[in-house]
Amino acid sequence: MKDQADKLRTMARDIKTRIESELFKGTKRTRVVTVTSGKGGVGKTNFAVNLAISLSDLGQKVMLLDADLGLANVDVVLGLVPRYNLYHVIKQEVPLKDIIVPGPGGIQIIPGGSGIFQLANLKDYEMRDIISQLEKLEGQSDYLIIDTGAGIAENVLSFAVMADDIIVLTTPEPTSLTDAYGVIKSAAAMQARGKFHLVVNRVFSESQGAVVGQKLKSVCERFLGVEIDIIGFVSEDRAVRSAVMNQEALVIYAPTSDASKNIRQIASRFCEKSEVVTKQPIGIKKFFRSITSIWKQKLQSEH
Ligand SMILES: Nc1ncnc2c1ncn2[C@@H]1O[C@H](COP(=O)(O)OP(=O)(O)O)[C@@H](O)[C@H]1O
Ligand SMILES: [Mg+2]
Repeated sequence: MKDQADKLRTMARDIKTRIESELFKGTKRTRVVTVTSGKGGVGKTNFAVNLAISLSDLGQKVMLLDADLGLANVDVVLGLVPRYNLYHVIKQEVPLKDIIVPGPGGIQIIPGGSGIFQLANLKDYEMRDIISQLEKLEGQSDYLIIDTGAGIAENVLSFAVMADDIIVLTTPEPTSLTDAYGVIKSAAAMQARGKFHLVVNRVFSESQGAVVGQKLKSVCERFLGVEIDIIGFVSEDRAVRSAVMNQEALVIYAPTSDASKNIRQIASRFCEKSEVVTKQPIGIKKFFRSITSIWKQKLQSEH
Protein backbone atom coordinates (compact mmCIF):
# COMPACT_ATOMS: atom_id res chain seq x y z
CA MET A 1 0.00 0.00 0.00
CA LYS A 2 2.74 2.40 1.05
CA ASP A 3 4.76 1.57 -2.08
CA GLN A 4 1.75 2.27 -4.24
CA ALA A 5 1.13 5.61 -2.52
CA ASP A 6 4.79 6.55 -2.83
CA LYS A 7 4.77 5.69 -6.52
CA LEU A 8 1.69 7.83 -7.10
CA ARG A 9 3.21 10.69 -5.17
CA THR A 10 6.42 10.51 -7.20
CA MET A 11 4.39 10.43 -10.40
CA ALA A 12 2.36 13.43 -9.31
CA ARG A 13 5.54 15.32 -8.45
CA ASP A 14 7.10 14.51 -11.83
CA ILE A 15 4.00 15.74 -13.61
CA LYS A 16 3.95 18.87 -11.47
CA THR A 17 7.58 19.60 -12.30
CA ARG A 18 6.91 19.07 -16.02
CA ILE A 19 3.85 21.32 -16.04
CA GLU A 20 5.68 23.97 -14.06
CA SER A 21 8.67 23.99 -16.34
CA GLU A 22 6.38 24.30 -19.35
CA LEU A 23 4.31 27.06 -17.82
CA PHE A 24 6.94 29.10 -16.09
CA LYS A 25 9.99 28.43 -18.20
CA GLY A 26 13.15 28.69 -16.12
CA THR A 27 11.63 30.96 -13.50
CA LYS A 28 10.82 28.75 -10.58
CA ARG A 29 9.36 30.82 -7.79
CA THR A 30 9.11 30.04 -4.11
CA ARG A 31 5.65 29.50 -2.68
CA VAL A 32 5.00 31.84 0.25
CA VAL A 33 2.96 30.48 3.15
CA THR A 34 2.00 32.73 6.06
CA VAL A 35 1.01 31.27 9.43
CA THR A 36 -1.14 33.66 11.41
CA SER A 37 -3.86 33.92 14.05
CA GLY A 38 -6.17 36.42 15.65
CA LYS A 39 -5.09 35.77 19.18
CA GLY A 40 -1.55 35.29 20.52
CA GLY A 41 -0.33 32.10 22.15
CA VAL A 42 -2.47 29.74 20.07
CA GLY A 43 0.53 27.74 18.85
CA LYS A 44 1.65 29.50 15.64
CA THR A 45 5.38 29.27 16.19
CA ASN A 46 5.30 25.61 17.14
CA PHE A 47 3.07 24.81 14.22
CA ALA A 48 5.17 26.78 11.72
CA VAL A 49 8.43 25.14 12.85
CA ASN A 50 7.03 21.62 12.78
CA LEU A 51 5.17 22.11 9.51
CA ALA A 52 8.44 23.33 7.97
CA ILE A 53 10.34 20.25 9.18
CA SER A 54 7.54 17.90 8.09
CA LEU A 55 7.49 19.42 4.59
CA SER A 56 11.25 19.05 4.46
CA ASP A 57 10.88 15.38 5.44
CA LEU A 58 8.58 15.02 2.44
CA GLY A 59 11.43 16.12 0.20
CA GLN A 60 10.54 19.79 -0.07
CA LYS A 61 13.11 22.55 0.40
CA VAL A 62 11.87 24.87 3.10
CA MET A 63 12.85 28.26 4.48
CA LEU A 64 11.28 29.61 7.64
CA LEU A 65 11.13 33.35 8.25
CA ASP A 66 10.63 34.46 11.82
CA ALA A 67 8.60 37.61 11.34
CA ASP A 68 7.16 37.99 14.81
CA LEU A 69 8.66 40.92 16.65
CA GLY A 70 7.55 39.56 20.00
CA LEU A 71 9.60 37.29 22.19
CA ALA A 72 9.79 33.49 22.41
CA ASN A 73 9.85 32.70 18.75
CA VAL A 74 11.45 30.31 16.31
CA ASP A 75 14.95 30.71 17.75
CA VAL A 76 13.82 30.16 21.33
CA VAL A 77 11.59 27.21 20.44
CA LEU A 78 14.57 25.58 18.70
CA GLY A 79 17.24 26.72 21.15
CA LEU A 80 19.13 28.62 18.46
CA VAL A 81 21.06 31.80 19.05
CA PRO A 82 21.32 33.51 15.67
CA ARG A 83 24.04 36.12 15.63
CA TYR A 84 22.44 38.34 13.05
CA ASN A 85 18.98 39.05 11.73
CA LEU A 86 17.33 41.14 9.04
CA TYR A 87 18.04 44.27 11.04
CA HIS A 88 21.76 43.78 10.38
CA VAL A 89 21.10 43.24 6.69
CA ILE A 90 19.12 46.47 6.50
CA LYS A 91 21.89 48.29 8.36
CA GLN A 92 24.23 46.81 5.72
CA GLU A 93 26.36 45.12 8.37
CA VAL A 94 26.07 41.62 6.87
CA PRO A 95 24.78 40.18 3.61
CA LEU A 96 21.45 38.37 3.68
CA LYS A 97 23.00 35.00 2.98
CA ASP A 98 25.04 35.24 6.18
CA ILE A 99 22.07 35.61 8.52
CA ILE A 100 20.44 32.37 7.38
CA VAL A 101 20.95 29.60 9.93
CA PRO A 102 20.47 25.89 9.36
CA GLY A 103 17.64 24.48 11.47
CA PRO A 104 16.67 20.89 12.31
CA GLY A 105 15.49 18.51 9.61
CA GLY A 106 17.27 20.39 6.85
CA ILE A 107 15.24 23.60 7.05
CA GLN A 108 16.81 27.05 6.72
CA ILE A 109 15.85 29.81 9.11
CA ILE A 110 15.82 33.53 8.37
CA PRO A 111 15.78 35.41 11.69
CA GLY A 112 13.64 38.52 11.27
CA GLY A 113 14.49 40.46 14.40
CA SER A 114 13.39 44.05 14.64
CA GLY A 115 14.47 44.82 11.10
CA ILE A 116 11.60 43.69 8.99
CA PHE A 117 9.27 46.65 9.21
CA GLN A 118 12.17 49.04 8.67
CA LEU A 119 12.14 47.90 5.06
CA ALA A 120 9.44 50.53 4.68
CA ASN A 121 11.88 53.29 5.62
CA LEU A 122 14.59 52.43 3.13
CA LYS A 123 15.61 54.63 0.26
CA ASP A 124 14.88 53.19 -3.17
CA TYR A 125 18.51 52.28 -3.85
CA GLU A 126 18.81 50.56 -0.45
CA MET A 127 15.67 48.60 -1.19
CA ARG A 128 17.00 47.58 -4.58
CA ASP A 129 20.06 46.15 -2.90
CA ILE A 130 17.99 44.06 -0.46
CA ILE A 131 15.66 42.91 -3.24
CA SER A 132 18.60 41.78 -5.33
CA GLN A 133 19.88 39.79 -2.36
CA LEU A 134 16.43 38.26 -1.85
CA GLU A 135 16.26 37.47 -5.53
CA LYS A 136 19.22 35.15 -5.13
CA LEU A 137 17.10 33.03 -2.78
CA GLU A 138 14.31 32.77 -5.34
CA GLY A 139 13.53 29.22 -6.29
CA GLN A 140 16.22 27.80 -4.00
CA SER A 141 13.42 26.61 -1.78
CA ASP A 142 9.97 25.29 -2.61
CA TYR A 143 8.37 27.01 0.35
CA LEU A 144 8.97 30.12 2.41
CA ILE A 145 6.98 29.72 5.61
CA ILE A 146 6.43 32.88 7.62
CA ASP A 147 5.70 32.83 11.32
CA THR A 148 3.96 36.12 12.10
CA GLY A 149 2.65 37.90 15.16
CA ALA A 150 -1.05 37.71 15.99
CA GLY A 151 -3.75 40.22 15.29
CA ILE A 152 -5.07 42.62 12.72
CA ALA A 153 -2.36 45.29 12.66
CA GLU A 154 -2.00 46.21 9.01
CA ASN A 155 1.74 45.59 8.99
CA VAL A 156 1.32 42.05 10.22
CA LEU A 157 -1.69 41.40 8.01
CA SER A 158 0.27 42.29 4.90
CA PHE A 159 2.23 39.03 5.27
CA ALA A 160 -1.07 37.19 4.96
CA VAL A 161 -2.49 39.41 2.25
CA MET A 162 0.38 38.81 -0.18
CA ALA A 163 1.01 35.11 0.57
CA ASP A 164 0.07 32.21 -1.70
CA ASP A 165 -1.36 30.37 1.27
CA ILE A 166 -2.66 31.78 4.55
CA ILE A 167 -2.78 29.27 7.36
CA VAL A 168 -4.97 30.59 10.16
CA LEU A 169 -4.52 28.89 13.50
CA THR A 170 -7.16 28.87 16.19
CA THR A 171 -7.92 26.90 19.31
CA PRO A 172 -11.48 25.79 20.08
CA GLU A 173 -11.86 28.65 22.60
CA PRO A 174 -14.56 31.15 21.61
CA THR A 175 -12.18 34.12 22.01
CA SER A 176 -9.65 32.52 19.69
CA LEU A 177 -12.34 31.70 17.14
CA THR A 178 -13.77 35.22 17.17
CA ASP A 179 -10.30 36.66 16.67
CA ALA A 180 -9.53 34.18 13.88
CA TYR A 181 -12.71 35.36 12.15
CA GLY A 182 -11.49 38.94 12.64
CA VAL A 183 -8.16 38.20 10.94
CA ILE A 184 -9.83 36.46 8.00
CA LYS A 185 -12.25 39.36 7.66
CA SER A 186 -9.48 41.98 7.72
CA ALA A 187 -7.23 40.05 5.33
CA ALA A 188 -10.14 39.55 2.94
CA ALA A 189 -10.94 43.27 3.13
CA MET A 190 -7.32 43.96 2.12
CA GLN A 191 -7.87 41.75 -0.96
CA ALA A 192 -5.82 38.77 0.17
CA ARG A 193 -4.61 37.02 -2.99
CA GLY A 194 -4.00 33.56 -1.52
CA LYS A 195 -6.01 30.64 -0.27
CA PHE A 196 -7.18 30.47 3.34
CA HIS A 197 -6.49 27.27 5.26
CA LEU A 198 -7.68 26.62 8.78
CA VAL A 199 -5.94 24.59 11.49
CA VAL A 200 -7.69 23.98 14.79
CA ASN A 201 -4.99 23.49 17.43
CA ARG A 202 -5.27 22.00 20.92
CA VAL A 203 -8.37 19.92 20.27
CA PHE A 204 -9.43 17.21 22.72
CA SER A 205 -10.92 14.99 20.03
CA GLU A 206 -11.12 14.72 16.28
CA SER A 207 -14.83 15.46 16.40
CA GLN A 208 -14.25 18.63 18.42
CA GLY A 209 -11.78 19.76 15.75
CA ALA A 210 -14.26 18.99 12.98
CA VAL A 211 -17.18 20.79 14.65
CA VAL A 212 -15.16 23.89 15.51
CA GLY A 213 -13.52 24.07 12.09
CA GLN A 214 -16.81 23.62 10.27
CA LYS A 215 -18.44 26.37 12.33
CA LEU A 216 -15.79 28.94 11.50
CA LYS A 217 -15.74 27.85 7.87
CA SER A 218 -19.51 28.31 7.46
CA VAL A 219 -19.50 31.70 9.17
CA CYS A 220 -16.68 32.93 6.90
CA GLU A 221 -18.36 31.63 3.78
CA ARG A 222 -21.74 33.01 4.74
CA PHE A 223 -20.79 36.45 6.03
CA LEU A 224 -17.56 37.18 4.19
CA GLY A 225 -17.95 35.12 1.05
CA VAL A 226 -14.47 33.74 1.75
CA GLU A 227 -13.74 30.11 1.04
CA ILE A 228 -11.88 28.29 3.79
CA ASP A 229 -10.07 24.98 3.42
CA ILE A 230 -10.01 23.05 6.69
CA ILE A 231 -6.57 21.50 6.47
CA GLY A 232 -6.65 19.66 9.77
CA PHE A 233 -6.46 19.78 13.52
CA VAL A 234 -3.75 19.25 16.12
CA SER A 235 -4.46 17.47 19.39
CA GLU A 236 -3.91 18.97 22.79
CA ASP A 237 -0.70 17.16 23.66
CA ARG A 238 1.67 17.47 26.60
CA ALA A 239 4.52 16.55 24.29
CA VAL A 240 4.31 20.05 22.78
CA ARG A 241 5.19 21.68 26.06
CA SER A 242 7.96 19.14 26.76
CA ALA A 243 9.47 19.81 23.34
CA VAL A 244 9.36 23.56 24.01
CA MET A 245 10.98 23.06 27.42
CA ASN A 246 13.73 21.03 25.75
CA GLN A 247 14.06 23.58 22.94
CA GLU A 248 13.64 20.89 20.33
CA ALA A 249 11.16 20.62 17.49
CA LEU A 250 8.20 18.44 18.44
CA VAL A 251 8.31 16.22 15.34
CA ILE A 252 11.93 15.34 16.16
CA TYR A 253 11.65 15.27 19.96
CA ALA A 254 8.41 13.25 20.07
CA PRO A 255 7.81 11.87 16.56
CA THR A 256 5.16 9.39 17.66
CA SER A 257 3.12 11.86 19.72
CA ASP A 258 -0.42 12.62 18.56
CA ALA A 259 0.39 16.26 17.80
CA SER A 260 3.39 15.19 15.65
CA LYS A 261 1.25 12.77 13.69
CA ASN A 262 -1.38 15.47 13.16
CA ILE A 263 1.14 18.01 11.90
CA ARG A 264 2.80 15.49 9.56
CA GLN A 265 -0.60 14.64 8.14
CA ILE A 266 -1.35 18.33 7.57
CA ALA A 267 2.03 18.70 5.84
CA SER A 268 1.36 15.85 3.47
CA ARG A 269 -2.15 17.11 2.70
CA PHE A 270 -0.76 20.56 2.12
CA CYS A 271 1.91 19.17 -0.20
CA GLU A 272 -0.65 17.25 -2.20
CA LYS A 273 -2.80 20.35 -2.58
CA SER A 274 0.20 22.34 -3.75
CA GLU A 275 0.74 19.73 -6.47
CA VAL A 276 -2.26 21.14 -8.25
CA VAL A 277 -0.62 23.93 -10.20
CA THR A 278 -3.09 26.69 -10.86
CA LYS A 279 -0.93 29.76 -10.97
CA GLN A 280 2.69 30.69 -10.54
CA PRO A 281 3.49 31.37 -6.86
CA ILE A 282 4.24 34.97 -5.91
CA GLY A 283 7.91 34.23 -5.20
CA ILE A 284 10.22 35.82 -2.67
CA LYS A 285 11.12 38.89 -4.69
CA LYS A 286 7.63 40.01 -5.59
CA PHE A 287 6.38 39.15 -2.11
CA PHE A 288 8.84 41.47 -0.38
CA ARG A 289 8.32 44.20 -2.97
CA SER A 290 4.57 44.02 -2.37
CA ILE A 291 4.58 44.01 1.43
CA THR A 292 7.08 46.86 1.50
CA SER A 293 4.89 48.89 -0.79
CA ILE A 294 1.88 48.28 1.49
CA TRP A 295 3.92 49.51 4.48
CA LYS A 296 5.15 52.55 2.54
CA GLN A 297 1.62 53.51 1.55
CA LYS A 298 0.57 53.21 5.15
CA LEU A 299 3.45 55.40 6.33
CA GLN A 300 2.58 58.02 3.73
CA SER A 301 -1.09 58.05 4.66
CA GLU A 302 -0.14 58.59 8.29
CA HIS A 303 1.80 61.75 7.46
N1 LIG B 1 -1.13 21.24 20.49
C1 LIG B 1 -0.73 21.72 21.65
N2 LIG B 1 -0.89 21.01 22.79
C2 LIG B 1 -0.50 21.50 23.99
N3 LIG B 1 0.08 22.69 24.16
C3 LIG B 1 0.26 23.46 23.08
C4 LIG B 1 -0.12 23.03 21.77
N4 LIG B 1 0.20 24.01 20.89
C5 LIG B 1 0.76 25.00 21.61
N5 LIG B 1 0.81 24.68 22.93
C6 LIG B 1 1.32 25.50 24.04
O1 LIG B 1 1.15 26.87 23.72
C7 LIG B 1 2.38 27.56 23.89
C8 LIG B 1 2.44 28.73 22.93
O2 LIG B 1 2.68 28.26 21.62
P1 LIG B 1 3.36 29.17 20.52
O3 LIG B 1 3.64 28.31 19.34
O4 LIG B 1 4.53 29.90 21.07
O5 LIG B 1 2.17 30.20 20.22
P2 LIG B 1 2.16 31.54 19.35
O6 LIG B 1 3.33 31.51 18.42
O7 LIG B 1 0.84 31.51 18.63
O8 LIG B 1 2.23 32.68 20.31
C9 LIG B 1 3.46 26.50 23.69
O9 LIG B 1 4.64 26.86 24.35
C10 LIG B 1 2.82 25.27 24.28
O10 LIG B 1 3.04 25.23 25.68
MG1 LIG C 1 4.92 32.92 18.13
